[in-house]
Amino acid sequence: MKTFSDQNIADKILKLKKEKNAVILAHYYQVPEIQDIADFIGDSLQLSQNAKSTDADIIVFAGVHFMAETAKILCPQKKVILPDLEAGCSLADSCLPDQFKKFKEEHPGHIVISYINCSVHIKTLSDVICTSSNAVKIVESFPKNQKIIFAPDKNLGGYINQITGRNMVLWNGSCEVHDIIKAEEVIRLKTLHPDAKLIAHPECKEIILKLADFIGSTTALLNFSINDRSNKFIVATETGILHQMKKSSPHKEFIIVPTDEKCSCNDCPYMKLNTLEKLYLSMKNEKPEISLSAELIKAASLPILKMLELSS
Ligand code: 13P
Ligand code: SF4
Repeated sequence: MKTFSDQNIADKILKLKKEKNAVILAHYYQVPEIQDIADFIGDSLQLSQNAKSTDADIIVFAGVHFMAETAKILCPQKKVILPDLEAGCSLADSCLPDQFKKFKEEHPGHIVISYINCSVHIKTLSDVICTSSNAVKIVESFPKNQKIIFAPDKNLGGYINQITGRNMVLWNGSCEVHDIIKAEEVIRLKTLHPDAKLIAHPECKEIILKLADFIGSTTALLNFSINDRSNKFIVATETGILHQMKKSSPHKEFIIVPTDEKCSCNDCPYMKLNTLEKLYLSMKNEKPEISLSAELIKAASLPILKMLELSS
C-alpha cells in the first residue's frame, strides 16, 4: 500500500474535511498525530456533547466503537465514521446483552446506570448512562434508597460506592488497560519521586485509587496537571493523555506508570488501532461507517439523553 509522510496525509485530511464538511472528534488516548489534526479532543462526555451539537455532515470519530456508536445514536441523520471498525473496548466486551438481561432479572427493583463504555444493546437495557466525569452526579440524582445496578466497570462502580456511601450492585467488568496497572509499580515510583503527585483514572483498581492524590476523567486529569502547583506527576492511565499534558505544561514532568519493563501495556490496543493513514482513508472512502437500526437508536438514545440532561 502507498505510504505518505505524516504531513502529506495531514494536508489531505484537512482538504477532505473542508470538501466534505466533516468534523474530526478525537479521544485523548489517540496517537499524537491524530490528536494534532482533530477539531476537538475530549473525554467521553465532552465528545458526546460535541457530537450532538456539531453542524458537520460527517463525524469522523477517532476513538473506539462505543464512542462512535454513541455519536450515531445522538445524530442518526449524520454519517459517522470510525477509522478502524476493530477498535473495540475490553470493558464494553465484558458485558454481553444476554448475560446482562439475566443479571437484571436476578436484581428486581433495581434501576440500571451504565458507564458509556458499553454496547448499544447494553444502553437499551439501561435507565441512564454516565461517564467518568459525571458518574457521581448521575448516581446522586437518585434517592439514597434507590436500588441500583452499575455496569460494566466494577472499579468505577466501587469508587462511586465508596464516595457516595451507596451499595450499588456491580457488574464484574473492567478495562484491561487500567486493570494491569500494579500497586507495586506505583509505590516504587512514589518512593523514587516523593515530590510527585499520583493522578489516576477511576477505571484503575481500588488499591491504585487509594494511593492517588487526584482521581478523575481524562479531561479532569489533564486540567489537574495544568492547574496544580506540583511540577511532577505520576500518571495512572492510558499513555495517550501524556501528549496534551506535555503540550499544556512543557516545564512539568510526567511519569506514566509502566506495567512491565518490557511492554507499554497501558497503551490501549483498541484506541491505538487508529492511525493517521486509516483516518485519511476512512474520510476519502467515507467508511467504515457506523450503522444501527432505527429501533436500536430510539431505545439507546433515551438513557444517553437523560445523561446529557442531568449533566448540563
Ligand atoms: P474518559 O475520557 O471519559 O475519562 O474515559 C476514558 C476511557 O477509558 C475511554 O475509553
Ligand atoms: Fe476500553 Fe480501556 Fe481502551 Fe478505554 S482504555 S477504550 S476502557 S479498553
